[in-house]
Amino acid sequence: MRWTPTNSIAVVTGASSGIGRCLCEMLVDRGATVVGVARRRERLVELQSRDASGCFIPVVGDITEAATRTEILAVAAQVDQGRLDLLVNNAGIGAIGPFADANEERLRRVMEVNFFAPAELMRQAIPLLRRGRAPVICNISSVLGHRAVPDKSEYCASKFALHGLSDAVRAELAREAAQDPSSQHNAIQVTLVSPSTTRSEFFDVLIDSDAAASSPSLGSWPPAKVASAAFAAIESRRSEVILSLAGKALVYADRISPPLMNAILAR
Ligand SMILES: NC(=O)c1ccc[n+]([C@@H]2O[C@H](COP(=O)([O-])OP(=O)(O)OC[C@H]3O[C@@H](n4cnc5c(N)ncnc54)[C@H](OP(=O)(O)O)[C@@H]3O)[C@@H](O)[C@H]2O)c1
Repeated sequence: MRWTPTNSIAVVTGASSGIGRCLCEMLVDRGATVVGVARRRERLVELQSRDASGCFIPVVGDITEAATRTEILAVAAQVDQGRLDLLVNNAGIGAIGPFADANEERLRRVMEVNFFAPAELMRQAIPLLRRGRAPVICNISSVLGHRAVPDKSEYCASKFALHGLSDAVRAELAREAAQDPSSQHNAIQVTLVSPSTTRSEFFDVLIDSDAAASSPSLGSWPPAKVASAAFAAIESRRSEVILSLAGKALVYADRISPPLMNAILAR
């Protein structure tokens, strides 16, 4: 069974730039109705004005606020009798600098945006997704949710948490579908997409950045390429995809020899 965008209803968080914006355009171009969420109203209005089909519905708000999450799903539910086919938890933020020099506020902010908000959106969206067609929850994580690196401790922790939650919820939903074969056609898949460095605005809007800390990367992908890979993973209802050669090298080298990776990262 494949997920198909035509006449589907999707929610995409982080729609105002980077990967989320590209994914919204891709989904609308292929016939989906997309509820796109972000804080920057002007960005969403501009995206809406480029959509002649009228299938892009902006919701302006901060996903860490419960009222915004309720509004997102209320808007999506109005499109077609409470049905939702796709939730993309894409909105995310980062911070760079040693953990010991930072503070609780930095940790809590990163966890709120990258973990608690998507977790609660998932929980609230499940009843709507159960009425969807081949429904998918797509969580945009990171290769740093598979292998943690120095100077991005809060970010790594948030993406590891999203990774763990995605694995657990996927297994719960699969068990539920196995116990009720009549619900197979709308069994919810959880797709974890783990990009490597992406040339978006992400590094321009870090909530904290230590000039002395480094953010090394072995090549980067444009956001449109990441969005295409995420879209392909959603269509084929994959459980997990790790993107880019450098991303795969980091994750698989760590799986083969964690001590070697520890030694490399300690340098
Ligand atoms: N860039 C990378 O190198 C990279 C690598 C691996 C994974 N990722 C992940 O990919 C995802 C997308 O990142 P990107 O690279 O496309 O970054 P981006 O261009 O900075 O986009 C981030 C999006 O999240 C939204 N956002 C941030 N905080 C929000 C909040 N509290 N409420 C609602 N929306 C919020 C932003 O919109 P507003 O500011 O308008 O709210 C923006 O639309 C993130 O989860 C990120 O962790 C990125």
